[in-house]
Amino acid sequence: MHKTPLPRLDLSEETLRTRLLPYCRLRPGQIWDDPRGRHRVACLDATDATAVAALMGRDRAELAIHDPPYNLVAFAERELAEYIAWCGRWIDVTLDALADDASLYVWLGADQRNGFQPLPDFMMLMRAKPMRARSFITMRNQRGYGTARNWMAVRQELLYYTRGNPIFDVRAEYTDIPKILRGYYKSVDGKVTENLERGKSETIRAGNVWVDIQQVFYRLDENVSGCYAQKPLKAIARILAASSAPDGLVLDLFAHSGTTLLAAELAGRRCRSADLDPVFCEIAIRRLEHQRATGRLGWQHGHAFETEGF
Ligand SMILES: C[S@@+](CC[C@H](N)C(=O)[O-])C[C@H]1O[C@@H](n2cnc3c(N)ncnc32)[C@H](O)[C@@H]1O
Repeated sequence: MHKTPLPRLDLSEETLRTRLLPYCRLRPGQIWDDPRGRHRVACLDATDATAVAALMGRDRAELAIHDPPYNLVAFAERELAEYIAWCGRWIDVTLDALADDASLYVWLGADQRNGFQPLPDFMMLMRAKPMRARSFITMRNQRGYGTARNWMAVRQELLYYTRGNPIFDVRAEYTDIPKILRGYYKSVDGKVTENLERGKSETIRAGNVWVDIQQVFYRLDENVSGCYAQKPLKAIARILAASSAPDGLVLDLFAHSGTTLLAAELAGRRCRSADLDPVFCEIAIRRLEHQRATGRLGWQHGHAFETEGF
């Protein structure tokens, strides 16, 4: 087994990036076209309306899944107001790239050591945008950071917005978790029943608290070393199943390890994805190619640049 993971690229020394760059096929402004005609990946700034328009061409996405840097966690600290203004710019760009009937999901952090930022200000920003707030989902992150003096931070926030009348397939909600708790009693045709009798399904709905998704870590096949903010494929698969149609078009402007791109491939959706950083664009494309060639979801202990001897 290959056991030489790439170090976290945001924390590693600049020389590693400099050595990786020659092996990255995209430069800023360039677009990779999938030879199978399913997907496109661009190296661009998500706030650049012209570059995103070039990525979209005449197409409009029915779903956007965005996972921007969370300001205070993995990136250099910016002023909150500046961060929110930046979010407003890529939201506007996204609105132009979406169909009239569309869904938007945004992963965001809420730092409990710093006024829960940036979540509340982002919610306020979205109230001024032409999208309807639909759900505030929490995914349980099993690798939370803990302290004996506070509740362990295990949540990952996911906001869901829509405009028009987009698809929502409720079947995507059902988990593998059996119903074990009784719910409330209700009278149906004069007979008092409780919810275990009334429900059609044996398992519970995920609802807006997702507790059944394993956080990505190095033991998982889907692990992509070098990436520090990878989302689980299962979470993206659930969003795709709920809010996109087979063969539908999905947009993700913050590709990183390419989770949305790969989940779209696996679910039979088409994806337009992008990242500012040519190294993450390359990792996302290689992850898709690697899956097509081997069936693997990531590199577990290895990494995307193994063939170059890193
Ligand atoms: C939180 S990560 C996304 C993680 C991704 N969902 C995954 O599962 O791998 C954020 C990504 O956004 C990229 N990024 C930061 N600023 C950007 C910008 N202005 N435009 C496009 N991408 C940007 C970073 O390079 C990073 O790869």
